[in-house]
Amino acid sequence: MALNDPNATPWWRDAITYQVYVRSFADSDGDGVGDLAGITSRLPYLRDLGVDALWITPFYPSPQHDHGYDVADYCDVDPLFGDLAAADELLATAHDLGLRVVVDLVPNHTSSEHPWFRAALAAGPGSAERARYLFRESPDGPPNNWGSVFGGPAWTRVEDGQWYLHLFDTTQPDLDWRNPEVAALFEDVLRFWLDRGVDGFRIDVAHGLFKESGLRDQVLPASGDGHTGSMVERRLNDEPMWDQPEVHDVYRRWHQILAEYDGDRMAVAEAWTQTPESMARFVRPDELSQSFNFGWLLAEWSATAFADVIHGTLTAMAPVGAAATWVLSNHDVARHASRYGGGERGLARARAATLTMLALPGSAYIYQGEELGLPEVDVAPEHWQDPASLRTGQKGRDGCRVPIPWSGTSAPYGFGPGTGQPWIPQPDEWAALSVEAQQGRAGSTLEFYREALRARRRYALGAGDDVRLDDEPRDVLTVRRGPLTVVLNCGATPVPLPDGDVLISSGRLEDGKLPADTAAWLQTGR
Ligand code: GLC
Ligand code: MG
Repeated sequence: MALNDPNATPWWRDAITYQVYVRSFADSDGDGVGDLAGITSRLPYLRDLGVDALWITPFYPSPQHDHGYDVADYCDVDPLFGDLAAADELLATAHDLGLRVVVDLVPNHTSSEHPWFRAALAAGPGSAERARYLFRESPDGPPNNWGSVFGGPAWTRVEDGQWYLHLFDTTQPDLDWRNPEVAALFEDVLRFWLDRGVDGFRIDVAHGLFKESGLRDQVLPASGDGHTGSMVERRLNDEPMWDQPEVHDVYRRWHQILAEYDGDRMAVAEAWTQTPESMARFVRPDELSQSFNFGWLLAEWSATAFADVIHGTLTAMAPVGAAATWVLSNHDVARHASRYGGGERGLARARAATLTMLALPGSAYIYQGEELGLPEVDVAPEHWQDPASLRTGQKGRDGCRVPIPWSGTSAPYGFGPGTGQPWIPQPDEWAALSVEAQQGRAGSTLEFYREALRARRRYALGAGDDVRLDDEPRDVLTVRRGPLTVVLNCGATPVPLPDGDVLISSGRLEDGKLPADTAAWLQTGR
């Protein structure tokens, strides 16, 4: 079966995938860092939440300069997180519970501690070892004006005078994907994890592997504008390091490898593409299964903006026959409850946006802790860990990576055994947000997510792919999908609902009306 065959429905086309940020989900051994055994012990929680799959961020041997996105060995487990037996145990337990497992693949760069980079440094200029990376001679300063996504220059000089490229931290040298050895390495890595039974891959920086030959200057001046900031600003520029056409040959090849295995193995691109159309190129029928759709995550709280994202996404996906994906939060951006203003209002909006997203055709990604309504945490500078913060001195991504509160009244809130404190401190007021505190409590965000995921299975999954948007009045988004109607009130005052039975709402209705910052699903008949 072709991976993106619209006539077949592989599991991932409408899956809910829960993102586990491994360091911050559950800690089994009390060292303050989450690990694989911790995840395994909490898999029943994910089954009960009602998700279909989990995506686990990198757990491979790594010096952890970018918390695992700096990989020193692609085919092993860092002792911080366990070992290969713990990975096998996790996979087996997940599969027994009916959950699929997606792992992270980081092909754009290795760690500077990867044997290949060590060999490159040792072998010196002109060697085959250096040719796996992007080393350049440039006596009078960096070879071009490229800036690292994490701030500062994208080039670092080594002792013999050559420069190497790193689009991220200095400890994350970019590979040269024009070198066939690089492609061969990752084909082996894919097979290694497919043979162990993973159901799919999340492809890190999927739009970055190839750099335009000649390495011309970038359009934006190199700057330390931080991770997502720079991604957003680059959206409309034709930059020589992102979205090069050659990258698609890699994904055609990976498509074939995935297809050799049984059970609808999949891959999802993390590609901060410039437009919905360029996003669609990653999910052509012979390429990847999915691409994260970051449009909604970048949109402000506005019915018009959300309507544009929904319309733009579905319009771009239709010609390639791919299913859409929806995502509101991940480990790289401020949590959506805080992006929408924080406090009670931000949370109400976050729940409303989530409920709207869950009604749409395609698959959705949930970031750990959003089902608890966790806000972005204002982490004190002395606890900053994000390499982008260390390079720029600015607040970075630590605030969405604070470990999950599971139970109890004080930190670590059951994140790990005992009283050992987690790698990023948890706020004092998180007792009320713990899983234990919300479980079974009517109206809690956790129970809302469970109910919403149940409602999705029951009312949305069979509702077809035809989506119509009403666009008047502009403060209210109305989405019609078969017999299901979703109304999201982004305005300031309650609005009447269309006729129909209310199936679920993200907050209480007021005298039958839909209050501000609230969404509802109705059964309205075709
Ligand atoms: C991706 C990851 C991010 C990481 C970067 C470099 O954007 O999501 O967390 O820092 O790639 O690997
Ligand atoms: Mg641990």
